[in-house]
Amino acid sequence: MTTSTTAMADYTQAPDATQEDLSHIPGLKGLPIAGRLPWMIKDFNGAIREHYEKFGEVSFLHMGVSKGLLVLGPDNYKNVYLDMDRNFSAKMGYMNSLGFFYRRCILMRDFEEHRYQRRVFQAAFKNDAMRGYLHMMNPIIQRHINGWGQQSGFHFFTGIKETLLDVAAKVFFGLDDLGSDARKLNQAFIDVAEKGMMGLIKKRIPGLKYYTGVKAKEYMDGYISKLIPERRQGDGIDFMSYVVKEKNDQGEYFPDLDLTEHLTFLMFAAHDTTTSALSHLVMLLGQNPEWQERLRKEAMAIDKEFIDWDDLEKMPDMNNAFLEGLRLYPSVSMMTRRTIRPCKIGNFDVPANTVVFLPPQFNHTMKQFWDEPMKFDPDRWTGSRQEQKRHPFQFVGFGGGAHKCIGMHFAQMNAKAFMYQFLRTYRFETKPGYQPWMQVIPMPRPGDMLPLKLTRL
Ligand code: HEM
Repeated sequence: MTTSTTAMADYTQAPDATQEDLSHIPGLKGLPIAGRLPWMIKDFNGAIREHYEKFGEVSFLHMGVSKGLLVLGPDNYKNVYLDMDRNFSAKMGYMNSLGFFYRRCILMRDFEEHRYQRRVFQAAFKNDAMRGYLHMMNPIIQRHINGWGQQSGFHFFTGIKETLLDVAAKVFFGLDDLGSDARKLNQAFIDVAEKGMMGLIKKRIPGLKYYTGVKAKEYMDGYISKLIPERRQGDGIDFMSYVVKEKNDQGEYFPDLDLTEHLTFLMFAAHDTTTSALSHLVMLLGQNPEWQERLRKEAMAIDKEFIDWDDLEKMPDMNNAFLEGLRLYPSVSMMTRRTIRPCKIGNFDVPANTVVFLPPQFNHTMKQFWDEPMKFDPDRWTGSRQEQKRHPFQFVGFGGGAHKCIGMHFAQMNAKAFMYQFLRTYRFETKPGYQPWMQVIPMPRPGDMLPLKLTRL
């Protein structure tokens, strides 16, 4: 990797000044304002592949409000994620998306500040804490799954979204999942994600989607910050109770403002991603009933009401199926960074303040690294095959480098806890020949919410 020694720009002073003169880098401009966005909404991965076929691994991309570089291929991801010369800022990359609502979150911190803040999560992801979360989530999952059997016209996406919201209220904040506080917090969370983030006009004007999101975020922040003293004094085993007790090098608690932002962002980072991953996995198991049976057999062999921490390792096929689902349908469809000084990406000299788009699915389906890449084949992750080991950045479903997903094991545990009960309660079928339109923007999921026929076992 070649980099410039040019001093780093004071990038935080110019959050909106992204570099747009990238005329030396080929690419597709698309429509005057929307750029390539309409193509990407229709067929996200197809549009990216078209760029690759025409221009290779680095090309110019105009995607609605953002213009920048589409960067593909594991070597380029290695350059950006490992960022040995501190060329790439996640904070600036997300300034015009997450930045509207989660400006102080962990993903929007760079370098030393990021490393320092990440310590907030230390105790909350230790094994003993995780055991506790698993016990909390099991009965909530059971309550939801049991209710599904009575529904006609059941849509899996809707069901799993509601389930995981209740799980989050309990596990992350220690709230009674059936109580009114959990309902209000969950609704506020939905308003931020589905209205605020989606609102095109980012102005605080009543009636606008963005405004609804801002009000909802203010409610979340107020609620969580008021809860801090109580959780700090109590002996709760929810996620928040661990986080608010964490201390810095000086033996002081982290400021409430940071804690509140980390906790509200955590819900954002955890919820839609796991909802998306499970929706794709269940869709794939509907389309591949032999794999559904194989996973059911694995679950039946454990044979108890709920799994415990020690049972997680007894589900290796489930592990592989989960990763295989994420390979084909990554929950985070695009990561972004922004250069903070001139540097090199691939063969191109890239100026400071250039937005870098990193969509994982391309690396996940490169023929050079995966055999029959479009096939759902969980066995590729195991035994003598282990195709994922051909390059450390060919699978980036959980990102890589300093910002690599901190909740990766939590997500896998949550997925196993859910799938264990779901597989043991129902056989599920998608329509014959089911091939829905796959939505990617704003959130990856089967476009029709995944209708399922459930048969109780
Ligand atoms: C299938 C589920 C999940 C997927 C696919 C996923 C994916 C990712 C990816 C790709 C990133 C990196 C973003 C970037 O570099 O720009 C990330 C970061 C992050 N994830 Fe996850 N995630 C999942 C679940 C979770 C869960 C359950 C939690 C929390 C319990 C979580 C918490 C976070 C946090 C806090 C970050 C930011 C880390 C940092 O900036 O240091 N994620 N995730």
